[in-house]
This record gives sequence, structure tokens and C-alpha cells, in this order.
Amino acid sequence: MIPEEQNKALDAWQTSARYWDKYRVLIAQMFAPLTSGLVEEARIGIGQEVLDIGGGSGEPSLTISCIVGPTGSVMYTDPVVGMVETAQAEAGRRRLTNIHFRQCSADDLPFADRTFDVAVSRLSAMFFVDPVTGVREALRVICENGFVSFVVWGPKEANPFFSTVTDVIDRFVEVPRQNPDAPDIFRFALPGKLAGILENAGAKNVIERQLNFQIKAAIPFEQFWQLRTEMSETLREKMAGLTPAQLPTIKQAVADAARGYFVSGTMNFPAEALIVSGRKSSA
Ligand SMILES: C[S@@+](CC[C@H](N)C(=O)[O-])C[C@H]1O[C@@H](n2cnc3c(N)ncnc32)[C@H](O)[C@@H]1O
Repeated sequence: MIPEEQNKALDAWQTSARYWDKYRVLIAQMFAPLTSGLVEEARIGIGQEVLDIGGGSGEPSLTISCIVGPTGSVMYTDPVVGMVETAQAEAGRRRLTNIHFRQCSADDLPFADRTFDVAVSRLSAMFFVDPVTGVREALRVICENGFVSFVVWGPKEANPFFSTVTDVIDRFVEVPRQNPDAPDIFRFALPGKLAGILENAGAKNVIERQLNFQIKAAIPFEQFWQLRTEMSETLREKMAGLTPAQLPTIKQAVADAARGYFVSGTMNFPAEALIVSGRKSSA
């Protein structure tokens, strides 16, 4: 990615930070199965030193800080200052003392070799500027035989939480042809793609697991619509290109498409993610 595109992407995340903070309780609830999956795959337990890469509004760092307990610690990282600030403020509200914060990008981690036991990343690897360098960096800073685990979204077709909105909007706006290797939520949806990067980066025992779960929360369609259109930069950009007259039509079409996922005021979408893990080889 050229530096100009990179800055634009980080500016977009900076704008997103306030929405990720606004919806933090829902985000924690909706994506909790992904955190559990990462914790299990990376064998995280009491007393470990854990690195979280691209921690956003604070997950999985906040959950992991409770799992590792006072004898362990978590290093939260994210390149976007707004994300770091919201995560740090939440850790303060919860009075967590075993979690530390650094503003940095995955491809240039400011830590010595073998600083951590484990490195994890939830829903962030798709946005790394250079995923091979990002994975190499994660492996560099963990101890020999330590685990790295990344969770990424599976294919769009298996994730109606996203596609019910984008499929409708894309009928109204021109969608530029996408480079499959450009940062995007579905960049690593293809089985084997991220696993191949881990292997190229030198990880051993690379395993890819498909995680099927439900994105559940007690919210009606209206709140889902608000959450989706605020949190995603891609959607904010597309919505800005619509005429005011198009908006109600689109919202109604999305409501119709999403009807089956809202029962008695509760949202319940099937979802699919991939958890890709490996271990650092002995020198
Ligand atoms: C979809 S959010 C996920 C946040 C959080 N881990 C979660 O699951 O709620 C993606 C995060 O990746 C971060 N990110 C973007 N580019 C990155 C990079 N080059 N290195 C590390 N993180 C990056 C963004 O700032 C954002 O916080």
C-alpha cells in the first residue's frame, strides 16, 4: 500500500474509533465467541504475557487481562490513537492494572524479540498494511513454541450480518473493482490464504479452524441499521454517495432482507470466521 492510502485507511479508523467506543458493549457481546475461540486456540491461561495486535476499542485485551490475572499481563496495541484512547479509558474504568498500551502498527512492533508468550489478533489482520511482515513481527516478539492466533471473517455469503446491508447498497452505488489483496474485511476469507502467510513467515504447526457462531444481541432492526452504518467506513462512504431520496428505499430493502434475522426484538445472524494459528519454531 502506498503511504497516502495507508494514511487514509488510518484516518478512517480514527473516525471509526468513536463508534467502536459507542457500541463497545454490543461489540463485546456479538463477537464474544471469537474471543473465546482465540483464547482456546492460543492456549491462553493464568500468568501469561499476551500481545494483542490491532486491539481496537479493547477486545480481546480486556477479556484476556482477566484470564491471565495479576501474575500475567496484556500488551494492547493499535496504530490508531483514537482506538488506543478508548481502550485505555475502558481499562481505567474497570480498574485493570495488568494491561499496557502502545500505539503501533503490526508491521513494526516496538518490542524486543521473545517478549511475550503468545500473540493474538481479533478481526485486524485483514487490515495489516503488509500481512507477511505483520505475522513475522508477531512471531519475532513471542517465545519459542509460543502461539500466534488470528481470527478473520469467513466468506461474505456466510456472513449476512454484513451482506444484508452491502448487497442492497451495492445495487445503488458504483462499486469499484476490488484488488483481492487490498485491506478489506473479507481479505482472508479464502481458506488457506492466511494460513499460507503464516507458513511463509516461518510458523510451524499451522492450523486453520472454521468457527461457525451466531451474532446475537437483544436489539431491533433499527439499532442494527444504525450500528452497521456508523461503524463501517466503507458503508459511511457509500451512504455519503446516495441521494436523500434513496435512503428510505434502501433502508426498507435492507429491513426486508434482514427480517428473518430479527425475532421478538432480538437480532440473531449466523456467522463464519476462521481462526488461523501457528507456533514459533525453535531457533
Ligand atoms: C475491525 S477492528 C477490530 C478491533 C478489535 N480487535 C475487535 O475485535 O473489536 C480492526 C482494527 O485493526 C486496526 N488496524 C488497522 N491497521 C492496522 C495495522 N497496520 N496494524 C495493526 N492494527 C491495525 C484498526 O485500527 C482497528 O482498530
